[in-house]
Amino acid sequence: MAGVRRPNGYRGPVSQQNTSSAGGDQPRPADHGARVASMFNGIAGRYDLMNLVMTWGQEPRFVRRTVDHAHIPAGGRVLDLATGTGDIALEVLRRDPDARVVGVDFAPEMMEVGRARPNGDRVEWVEADAMDLPFEDESFDSVTHGYLLRNVADIPTTLAEQFRVLRPGGWMAALETSPAPDDVFKPFSTFYIRNVVPRVAKMITKTPEAYAYLSESSRAFKSPAQIAALLEDAGFVNVGHETFLFGTLAVHWAMKPVV
Ligand SMILES: C[S@@+](CC[C@H](N)C(=O)[O-])C[C@H]1O[C@@H](n2cnc3c(N)ncnc32)[C@H](O)[C@@H]1O
Repeated sequence: MAGVRRPNGYRGPVSQQNTSSAGGDQPRPADHGARVASMFNGIAGRYDLMNLVMTWGQEPRFVRRTVDHAHIPAGGRVLDLATGTGDIALEVLRRDPDARVVGVDFAPEMMEVGRARPNGDRVEWVEADAMDLPFEDESFDSVTHGYLLRNVADIPTTLAEQFRVLRPGGWMAALETSPAPDDVFKPFSTFYIRNVVPRVAKMITKTPEAYAYLSESSRAFKSPAQIAALLEDAGFVNVGHETFLFGTLAVHWAMKPVV
C-alpha cells in the first residue's frame, strides 16, 4: 500500500500461542494476530468515530496524558506501536514538529486512514507486528501505544521488544482498558462495558466480530497492578499509572534503566 512501508521479509502477524502467565488469561489461537489485523482492517474507516463515542468524547485527553508520560526529548525519535489511525503519533508531532515519529501497526488500512489525516505524511508508517519489531536495539528515545497489550497474543514478548528498542533512560507510556475496580461505580461501569460498548460498536462498525471482540477484550483485560508486574518482569523501572473513566481506562508508564 502506498505510503505504508512493509519491511523486507515481513510475512504478516506473528503466529504464537499466548504464554503469558499473569492474569490467568485463556491461551489465544495461533492465528490470533491475523484475525485481529483483519478485524481492524475491516473497521478502519469507522474506528475514529467509534473510539470517540466509546470514550465519551474524551479520547484526546487520554492521548495527551499518554504523550505527557512518554518524556519525549526535543526532536526525539518516537515509536508509536499499534498506531492505528495515528492519534498518539500525530499528538507527538503536534507538540514537537521536529520529533521523528515511526508508527507501527499490522493493519495497513488503519494506517492509510491515519496517513490521510493532517500531518499524516510526516509520520513514517511501518507495517509490522509489535511482537517482532524490525528495528535496531536502543534506536528510540520513547515508545508509546494505545490499546495494544489487550490485543496481543503474548504480553511478555511484546514488552521485551519495547525494552530492546528503547535507549537506556528512555520511557514507554501506554493507554489501556482496565477492569472496573470494586467501588460504588462498578455496577455502572460493568453495565456500560457489557451492554453499551457492544451496542455502540455494532451500530458504528456494523461488523459482528468487531463488537463481540471489543466487548470481550475490554472486560477480560489486566489490572494496573498486573501490568506493573509485567513491566517490572521485562526489566523496566519507575513503573506507574493513572486511571480514568471510573477506573476503566489507565495510562501506564515505565523507564528503561540507565545501567
Ligand atoms: C484499538 S486500535 C488502537 C489504535 C490507536 N493506538 C488508538 O489509540 O486509537 C488497536 C490497534 O492495534 C493494532 N494491533 C494489535 N495487535 C498488534 C500487533 N501485535 N502488532 C501491531 N499492531 C497491532 C491493531 O491493528 C489496531 O490498529
